[in-house]
Amino acid sequence: MSPSDHLILGISGASGARLGLRALALFAGSPDVERLHLVVSPRALLVAQTEIDAGISSASALVDSANLDAATRAKVVLHAESAVDAPISSGSFKTRGMAVLPCSSGTLAAIAHGTSRGLLQRAADVCLKERRRLVLGLRETPLSLVHAENIVRVTRAGGIVAPVVPAFYAAREVDELLDAYVLRVADLLDVRIDTADYRWTGGT
Ligand SMILES: Cc1cc2nc3c(=O)[nH]c(=O)nc-3n(C[C@H](O)[C@H](O)[C@H](O)COP(=O)(O)O)c2cc1C
Repeated sequence: MSPSDHLILGISGASGARLGLRALALFAGSPDVERLHLVVSPRALLVAQTEIDAGISSASALVDSANLDAATRAKVVLHAESAVDAPISSGSFKTRGMAVLPCSSGTLAAIAHGTSRGLLQRAADVCLKERRRLVLGLRETPLSLVHAENIVRVTRAGGIVAPVVPAFYAAREVDELLDAYVLRVADLLDVRIDTADYRWTGGT
C-alpha cells in the first residue's frame, strides 16, 4: 500500500450530516483510497441525531447508518476524536490529504489558528504543515468578518476552503446535489470516484 493511499475525512458539527455520510461512502469506495481515516467531532454526532436519526449515539453508529457494503466498510478506520496519538496526528504518517465535510465555522477557526484541540483539528494542522491537500467544506451563511478572515488565514496557509454550495445544474435530488459536491472535493484531492459524473458539459 502506498502512503498516499491513505485519505482523512473529518466530519464536524455543521449542518449537513448527510453530506458527511455521502463523502464517507464515496471516498471509501474510491479505487484510489486503500484506507479512509475518519474522525467525527462530538458536535457532529449531535447534528446527526437532529438531522438523520436520534439513535445515532456514537461515531460507529454514524458509520453504520451509511450502510456501506462490507468491502467499503473494511477500508474505513474510525479514530476517536480524543485519540491525538493516532497515526494521522503525525506528519511522519503519510497521507494524500484531508477533507472536512461539513466544516463548521468553529472548526474553521480552530484550523485557522492551529489550536489542534482534538484529533480532527490536529490532523488538519498536520496537513497544513506538511503542505498536503486540505479541503474544508465550510457550511455557514452569511459570513461574518471573523469567518472571512479565518478563510483568508487557511487559504494563505495552503488550505482550500470550498464552501458547500450546491451545483444546482447537476441534480434534482438532494443526494445527487451532495454527490456532485463531493465529486468536486474529490477532484481537489485528486481522488477518483467511479460514480455518475456531474461535470458541466455545456448548455443545450
Ligand atoms: C443542528 C445544528 C446545526 C448546526 N449547524 C451549523 C452550521 O451549519 N454551521 C456552523 O458553523 N455551525 C453549526 N452548528 C453549531 C456547531 O455545531 C457548534 O459551533 C459546534 O461547537 C461546532 O463544533 P465542531 O466544529 O467541533 O464540530 C450547528 C449546531 C447544531 C446543533
